[in-house]
Amino acid sequence: MELRAVKGMNDILPDEAARWQRLEQAFREHVARYGYDEVRTPILEHTALFSRQIGETTDVVEKEMYSFARHGDELTVRPEGTAGAARAYVEHKTHTKEPVSRWYYLGPMFRGERPAKGRYRQFYQAGCELYGDAGPLADAEMIEMILSLLSTGLGIGNIEVRLNSLGASGTRARYRDALVAYFTPMKDKLSEDSQRRLEKNPLRILDSKDPRDREASKGAPSILELLDEADAAHFAGVRRHLDALDVRYVVDPTLVRGLDYYTRTLFEFVTTTGDLGAQSTVVGGGRYDNMVEGLGGPSVPAIGFAMGIERLLTLMPGEASRERPAIYVAPLSDACTSRALVLGRDLRARGVRVEVDGRGGRLKAMLRRADSLGAKLCVILGDGELERGIVSVKELAAHKQDEVPLADAADVLAARARAEVSPPPGEAR
Ligand code: HAM
Repeated sequence: MELRAVKGMNDILPDEAARWQRLEQAFREHVARYGYDEVRTPILEHTALFSRQIGETTDVVEKEMYSFARHGDELTVRPEGTAGAARAYVEHKTHTKEPVSRWYYLGPMFRGERPAKGRYRQFYQAGCELYGDAGPLADAEMIEMILSLLSTGLGIGNIEVRLNSLGASGTRARYRDALVAYFTPMKDKLSEDSQRRLEKNPLRILDSKDPRDREASKGAPSILELLDEADAAHFAGVRRHLDALDVRYVVDPTLVRGLDYYTRTLFEFVTTTGDLGAQSTVVGGGRYDNMVEGLGGPSVPAIGFAMGIERLLTLMPGEASRERPAIYVAPLSDACTSRALVLGRDLRARGVRVEVDGRGGRLKAMLRRADSLGAKLCVILGDGELERGIVSVKELAAHKQDEVPLADAADVLAARARAEVSPPPGEAR
């Protein structure tokens, strides 16, 4: 049987990887300006971390986690980055070292969802988590940071920001009761999953993709009417700051998101182009002020987001491409290969991208390869050249050829590789 990649898990080949690097680089540079530093946490964590923090009755925990037992531990391949980062924050007593921490991460996450365009079983997220600031300024600044990254940093337009507030724990409990009262009379019309969740976690019904649940949710009570004074003031503060920053958003009282840890501000960034079909949410995040304490740490508020890299790449302009070697070295005989290797090494030491042809064989095939790679110069080293102490240099685009003394070939060619306009043949720099 032919072995193939696991369903829902993709190879990213070099042409495409260049676009990944561009996105990752833009993300790193952008969030660094807002004070974020990278954190790297393990891909495997104890299963209990996710089931407790994300919530036992969420789709992620109930259906999607890759979990297994090994050496007496129950382990899960991380489905998201927030719980692991918070675990690390608590484990390393980070709050004793600094009052506010800003962390970012990039990496693969794993969820056994049904694969579709923009929905994979191994997918990549870039995310940020901010600990220690409860105020609405942090929320607004984070939303503005994401929006400017998408628009200016990545060139992605047609994005809508959806905003909601779930309130703190007290509000959520009251909302839960209101939802139970609303859905119970129509229990028979809900999906089987939602009927089961009605008592335990009725918020999840609002997040369900089942058409029966969507229909039933239409007249559901709005959480925004249940916010207490402090929650309402916080939400008003977020909106006021967003207005000051000229960030447009849509308040969506039905937005609940698929993870249980959120408190107060919730947001999603959705593309309105239709390119991603049902997978139109490119960024999701919100406040989770109780997680650090829930993990045994002090009471430290937190807010964060993660963006789906594959989804953003679908929307990001720019061709797939690869870096080209500036110089292709073509040794024409066995006697020349060692000298070619040395020249390659010396050019690289001068910062030039070089490929040395080790296949042997005919010049024609080597020139064809140099051309197809898009190299600027092809350096030919045959027995004749070696005898005369020179190399022949072909300017591939201009179809011109000249010679350079072997003794200073590395310096001369490195300068020519970097130069915008090549010198006329025969005139070495
Ligand atoms: P999430 O909404 O589950 O949030 O995921 C965030 C983003 O990851 C989604 O908006 C989507 O772009 C991408 N994503 C999720 N699942 C898949 C998939 N199966 N295939 C491709 N892309 C996917 C979180 O994960 C939270 N940890 C975000 C957060 C950070 N909240 C606070 N801090």
